[in-house]
Amino acid sequence: RRAGKLPGRQDWSSWPHYQAAAAGFRGYWYPVCYSSQLTGKPKQITLLGEKIVLIRDGVKNRGTAYALKDRCPHRGVPLSEGNQQFPGTISCPYHGWTFDLATGELKAVITDGPESPICGKVTQPTYEVEERLGMVWVFVGDGEDAPPIDQQLPEELVGNAAVVGSRIQPRIGNWRFACENGYDEGHAKYLHRTSLWRLFKAMPVWNETRIVQRGRWIYRVQDKQYWTAEFPGLGKWDNQAWFKLKPPKQTSNIGNTGSHRDVNPVIAAQEFPGFASVSMPGVLRIAYPTFIHYEFYVPVDAENHLYVGVMADFRQGWRTLPFYLKYLGFVRWLFHGQFSAQDKWMVEVTDAPPERLYRPDESLLKWRKLAEDVTEERIERLKTDGFEPVGPPV
Ligand code: FES
Repeated sequence: RRAGKLPGRQDWSSWPHYQAAAAGFRGYWYPVCYSSQLTGKPKQITLLGEKIVLIRDGVKNRGTAYALKDRCPHRGVPLSEGNQQFPGTISCPYHGWTFDLATGELKAVITDGPESPICGKVTQPTYEVEERLGMVWVFVGDGEDAPPIDQQLPEELVGNAAVVGSRIQPRIGNWRFACENGYDEGHAKYLHRTSLWRLFKAMPVWNETRIVQRGRWIYRVQDKQYWTAEFPGLGKWDNQAWFKLKPPKQTSNIGNTGSHRDVNPVIAAQEFPGFASVSMPGVLRIAYPTFIHYEFYVPVDAENHLYVGVMADFRQGWRTLPFYLKYLGFVRWLFHGQFSAQDKWMVEVTDAPPERLYRPDESLLKWRKLAEDVTEERIERLKTDGFEPVGPPV
């Protein structure tokens, strides 16, 4: 049932945009830290290879979040080393050049008096910032207006009340390896066979799978699961190493745990064609019957990324209490922790290309194709609108 033949090629030249996006794809909103971590004290982050200063304006750390390029145009000192001297601004620590947080305009130069002639003649590049799901999100583009962030968040997280648990971890390794690992079909069954999470989730040895696209997501649809396999001349292998878990009855394609409980109405309403899906610019969605797990692979630079794991449960009121108990009691440690640490390990040691792909890698190929097609469309749109897409950092 697997369509197509895998290309024999050993490099990534079939996907030039993907190949060039070592430091990430521009034109997207990325989560960079928890909202609670951002105060009036400037904070430096690196996103898509760019140094950015984040700061929360105003008193009591409750003001709006802003982001500017973290390099003072005067002598190149990071603005994140400075602080706020006047509301709505940030001042460089060296000579007191003071920039408007919203527009980047040079509003005052403290060491040149109130009439400094350079004021109004210098503008610091700014980035658009939003806060969602308890996190700060920054848009990195090519000069175009940022699309509303709700257009880029997973659709079901917009307009549905959800209780959310998340983990943000800086990790070594290229963001593409992290994304490919997340969507990689085979690894869940083999790499994670020793994860403690497996105490709760039975996994097949292998699947018959199709990749289907719906909207901006591609889904892995598992047509058939094999819970045991006989390897000629070697013996039998099953994947129930930890517990003799009974293979679940497969009643829906949501989650590989089948029918254990009713599907949450918000999740059921999405009618996901498959339980694992991926979308640009590197967002993984795993839909279980009662909750959804997301992974955002945020490019820091070509060698580092942020792993942002989010678990969302569409409950309200007192029902959120069991969610917190479940999340803090074990999901955070087992799933976002030990299970995910196995992924972290593989991302650190992956060294591709060159590579020689096998049948389940169709998931990787379809993801690269999606990235390629969507980026091609974006570049065409930018050129039509008169913007020059920025190439990858050299
Ligand atoms: Fe920033 Fe001089 S280097 S004010």
